[in-house]
Amino acid sequence: MLTIEDLPLEGKVVFLRVDMNTPLDPANSKLMELNRIQEASVSIRDLSKCRVVVGSHQGRVGRDDYIGMEQHADALTNILGKKVRFADDIFGPTAVKEIDSLSNGEVLLLDNLRFTAEENMEFSPSAAAKTILVQRLVKHFDACVLDAFPTAHRAHPSIVGFSYILPTCAGRLVSKELKALNRIMTVSKAPFTTVLGGAKVSDRLEAIDTLIANKRADKVLLCGLIANVFLKGARKIEYDIGIDKEDAMVERATFLMADYPDTFQLPIDVAVDRSSERVEIPVEELRAGDRVFDIGSKTIDHYSRIIRSSGTIFMSRPPGLFEDPRFGVGTEAILRAMASSFGTTIVSGGHLSAALHRFGIREWIDHVSTAGGALVLFLGGKRLPLIEALEAYEKKMKDGH
Ligand code: 3PG
Repeated sequence: MLTIEDLPLEGKVVFLRVDMNTPLDPANSKLMELNRIQEASVSIRDLSKCRVVVGSHQGRVGRDDYIGMEQHADALTNILGKKVRFADDIFGPTAVKEIDSLSNGEVLLLDNLRFTAEENMEFSPSAAAKTILVQRLVKHFDACVLDAFPTAHRAHPSIVGFSYILPTCAGRLVSKELKALNRIMTVSKAPFTTVLGGAKVSDRLEAIDTLIANKRADKVLLCGLIANVFLKGARKIEYDIGIDKEDAMVERATFLMADYPDTFQLPIDVAVDRSSERVEIPVEELRAGDRVFDIGSKTIDHYSRIIRSSGTIFMSRPPGLFEDPRFGVGTEAILRAMASSFGTTIVSGGHLSAALHRFGIREWIDHVSTAGGALVLFLGGKRLPLIEALEAYEKKMKDGH
């Protein structure tokens, strides 16, 4: 695929698709960390002789993290040390006026791309090129730089549509992640262990399928909400967990455990909040209304032993609410087990990156990726639409189109 130096971008209007999707503090909806914004700033700096229009999504429709991009513009302004303009618009007259008035070296951030319906849907590249989002904006752009590695698994118009029409190359984060991951995948050894936590249950189930099918998960250590779904499938939890399509998810988990009986490891004990205290209980004692905030000590010991005897360990999302010191025990212990293991270690996502910094063990992990779901699918050997878009443009160039 091509990179920034391979296209004549000086003086051009460049659409730069990044991923600045960031967890928000539930108390005040402020950005909780700036890792992805920091990473996005690298390509912006390297496009300093262009007129840069930055696009990103934030959150998902209907969730608490689905907000506009004003805070991201302020954070980028601080990181870059120069004013980043913000349009509270995506393809309407305000955005178009702002884009057309950009001078060389100026940066404009559009509002949350998912505020448009089309950016929440998947398309083939040719269909994405016909969406209103792409059609309204593409005539104002000369080139497209794809740098949203954490969104590489989404065939959204901003990823596969502009790149179908415009000269397109990879940004710095995409290059950095692919270089590191390709290096790691060539040296990584079995047995492969995956530690999965987090709340996006249907995404996690898809991830498990992909990893197992591609022999990238000999053992799957489950934590958080996804663990509850498997615990319910194993009849250790009898009550409703309260997630979307719960019955279907539990049924899927039950089938997976039957198909791969030795693969899944479920928590033995968990930590819950009782009168503002961390209390550890065996999973069999969980009752409706209990909110699980961490794995318990027996589970930590069991999971740590598996981690220490693994050749490659991949961890996606924290096992507990580590921002709260009472419930950070599991996250710290599992990350420390990874840091001290002889295996190859990959950690995914902003939460875990923040946790590694907090515990002072960031440099002991082989690769800390900005991506969550995209990384799981990449490690599982799936073709990612963003990578395909970059390869398609490079092929077009080679074939002389
Ligand atoms: C992520 O955080 O994994 C990416 O920003 C993609 O977000 P999504 O899972 O809501 O598409």
